[in-house]
Amino acid sequence: MNDETTAGPALRVVGGGRGAGRTVWVVNGPNLGRLGSREPDIYGRVDAEELARRVAAWGGELGLDVTLKQSDDEATVMGWIHEAADRGIGVVLNPAAFTHYSYGLRDAVADLTARGGVLVEIHISNPSSRETFRHTSVISGVATGTIAGFGLDSYRLALSALAAR
Ligand code: DQA
Repeated sequence: MNDETTAGPALRVVGGGRGAGRTVWVVNGPNLGRLGSREPDIYGRVDAEELARRVAAWGGELGLDVTLKQSDDEATVMGWIHEAADRGIGVVLNPAAFTHYSYGLRDAVADLTARGGVLVEIHISNPSSRETFRHTSVISGVATGTIAGFGLDSYRLALSALAAR
């Protein structure tokens, strides 16, 4: 998370506390604010706050300054992708249900990657092994890459991929 501490003029601690790194946003789509209680057999029992702590810590280990954002609102998620594209911020995106039908979000992601931005699509579960409607991702074709099926480790793997670029 973007927890920023100032301790005197000389010391500035950002993100995982290991120094200012490249900014990365982890963007979670609809219903992912309900992690921990939502269908725990599929998504696990770790809640969104703990996920925010974990992505910040994983990012810190990789030299990234990671902020987790979540919204159930498509326009808000698209606004974050536009801003990331404009500012050259790397993105780990779990589009959640938007994955399967949001051409608006696809177009926003396509613009980001066409401009040289990096965006990793991730999923906690493996949508390809679930209901048929989840087998289609309208995002994958315009994302830099996709990671799915590793539980919350999908986020960590995506951050590693971003850090390596
Ligand atoms: C999900 C998979 C989607 O099909 C679903 O709508 C989600 C979460 C995942 O992380 O496994 O909300 O993106």
